[in-house]
Amino acid sequence: MSKQFESKRETAARINKMFTAPIAAPKPPDEVRELSELRFKYNLLLGRYQELQDVFNFHRNIVQNISSGLLILDNNGMITFANKAACEILDLKNTELNNQPFRKFFASPDEGAETTQELIKEKKQFESKETHFLSGKGKPVPVGFSTSIVQLPGKTPGDGYIIIFRNLRYLMNLRTQIERMDRLATLGELSAGIAHEIRNPLAGIKVSAQVLEESFSPADFRSQLVSRIVKEIDRSNELLKRFFNFAKPNKPKQKLVNIELLIDGVYLLLVNRLKKKNIQFNKTFADFTPQVFVDEGQLEQVILNLFLNAIDAIGPKGGSILVGTGYEEAVRLDENKPVQAAVFVKIRDDGHGIRKENLEKIFNPFFTSKPEGVGLGLSISSRLINENGGRIEVASEETKGTEFTIFLPVHEN
Ligand SMILES: Nc1ncnc2c1ncn2[C@@H]1O[C@H](COP(=O)(O)OP(=O)(O)OP(=O)(O)O)[C@@H](O)[C@H]1O
Ligand SMILES: [Mg+2]
Repeated sequence: MSKQFESKRETAARINKMFTAPIAAPKPPDEVRELSELRFKYNLLLGRYQELQDVFNFHRNIVQNISSGLLILDNNGMITFANKAACEILDLKNTELNNQPFRKFFASPDEGAETTQELIKEKKQFESKETHFLSGKGKPVPVGFSTSIVQLPGKTPGDGYIIIFRNLRYLMNLRTQIERMDRLATLGELSAGIAHEIRNPLAGIKVSAQVLEESFSPADFRSQLVSRIVKEIDRSNELLKRFFNFAKPNKPKQKLVNIELLIDGVYLLLVNRLKKKNIQFNKTFADFTPQVFVDEGQLEQVILNLFLNAIDAIGPKGGSILVGTGYEEAVRLDENKPVQAAVFVKIRDDGHGIRKENLEKIFNPFFTSKPEGVGLGLSISSRLINENGGRIEVASEETKGTEFTIFLPVHEN
């Protein structure tokens, strides 16, 4: 007999079973499983990609921010990459360098062709080779470059070349300055010796001449001759004094100096001369110029020398002299020192200018183009500026004018 009703016990057992029996989880469809696996792999890849991107950015920053110019060439000698410094040194845009033949950027086309040939065909490597590249403005830029072979992406090893180069202009300026100082030192010692030897007999001649002068009546023509002798001796003595100054300038007694007041002081000495020659004098002083730490007397002498040269350079029709001051936060005053804050003074004239071939000579002692010149003004000035921790530069164009710039250290507290 079949049971129509279950007993209470049976009901309880059934319900209990319903709640305790494990429920089988619904099986996800295959696509869902694959999707979550894909998502996992995707996130993993994304992480790796980020890491790669960071490494790439890091390397790119290094390449872009090194101070040397960097070019990459393919095996046809075409530029495939140029960093920021390369563009700056050559004064060209990236697009003007990319896909251009490397040889095109040599100042000498023959040297460009030869170097590229040696590099690519003969696999010759260059180390600190000095040459001139050509800037975007067509001006030669002195550079030193080194090369190395590299594998370009997707190419075979040895298919690419790295060119690293530096602008040598600053270094060359320093080199000539050092040579200039060496020459000055030798000449200085020599002239000090000679000057000393000449001064003593001159003193004797002068005394004798004065005694002789007194023995003639003032109307006697011989008295006039002797007085001429005395005058010439005084002139020679003056010259010798300058030699001494040149050979053994006093150690600078540095203190804080207001450069603009000093310039105004020198100007006052020259007002009459400027008026006589019909020279306009203009000043453009910076709003704020820190004091400089220099020997005041020596700096005065330098500014005076530069003004006198500017006046001499202006012809009888007159002209103008402009003096300006300014401040720069980072100037390299000495090769062995880091950049530092400096005040600059510019003295510009619109006189006859200096011939290109003479530009290097003007700081040499006794170089002069003036009939009455001694040729010591600039050599003394450059020496004094160096001894006061500064630097002097010149830029000139024949018939247009000349500009001297002096950089002077600002006192560091
Ligand atoms: N502002 C200038 N414009 C044109 N030429 C200049 C200028 N300053 C200097 N020179 C050139 O440089 C030369 C050397 O100058 P430097 O002051 O050393 O000697 P100098 O003026 O000839 O004689 P001195 O010893 O009396 O100063 C000058 O003879 C001149 O040819
Ligand atoms: Mg002079």
